[in-house]
Amino acid sequence: GLRKKEVNVLCLGLDNSGKTTIINQLKPANTQAQEIVPTIGFNIEKFKTSSLSFTVFDMSGQSRYRNLWEHYYRESHAIIFVIDSGDKLRMVVAKEELDTLLNHEDIRSKRLPVLFFANKMDLRDAMSSVKVSQMLCLDNIKDKPWHICASNAIKGEGLQEGLDWLQGNAF
Ligand code: GTP
Ligand code: MG
Repeated sequence: GLRKKEVNVLCLGLDNSGKTTIINQLKPANTQAQEIVPTIGFNIEKFKTSSLSFTVFDMSGQSRYRNLWEHYYRESHAIIFVIDSGDKLRMVVAKEELDTLLNHEDIRSKRLPVLFFANKMDLRDAMSSVKVSQMLCLDNIKDKPWHICASNAIKGEGLQEGLDWLQGNAF
């Protein structure tokens, strides 16, 4: 049959935002990890949808590993950026990291799609995706297609909507 188009996705965001939990949910049930631990460095995960074959670089968000992110910008076709919607204190740190990413020379000139997950929407004091979008000034992103979804990675809610957007608009 036809080979599925191969897409490299870089999954970024602060530590504890839920990146690995999200990627784990997107994998087939029989390959999902039972327990999620903080990522050291990065992990590479692969999964297929009906039309695409994804290779995801699930990066650690810990500050000591964030310098690894930029090494993968050039080969990426899309970015998933995960935010902990309940972590108001570190929203400014998330914005700083996002701005650094968007201003990087390997990203700045590229029209690659950016999918945001406003994750942990189940937390009682979680900010809405609209609020998260305002805090991160996403409206300032003019040269790339972007989309934000509220998600609960533990239950898997909101993830398919995000993936559908990536598949539909991005490639
Ligand atoms: P690093 O690998 O350190 O960068 O973190 P990460 O972004 O990969 O986060 P990880 O997936 O390890 O999740 C961190 C913690 O948040 C875990 O205890 C998860 O169970 C929890 N978590 C992830 N998603 C959600 C969510 O949607 N809601 C709630 N309540 N907790 C979540
Ligand atoms: Mg992780």
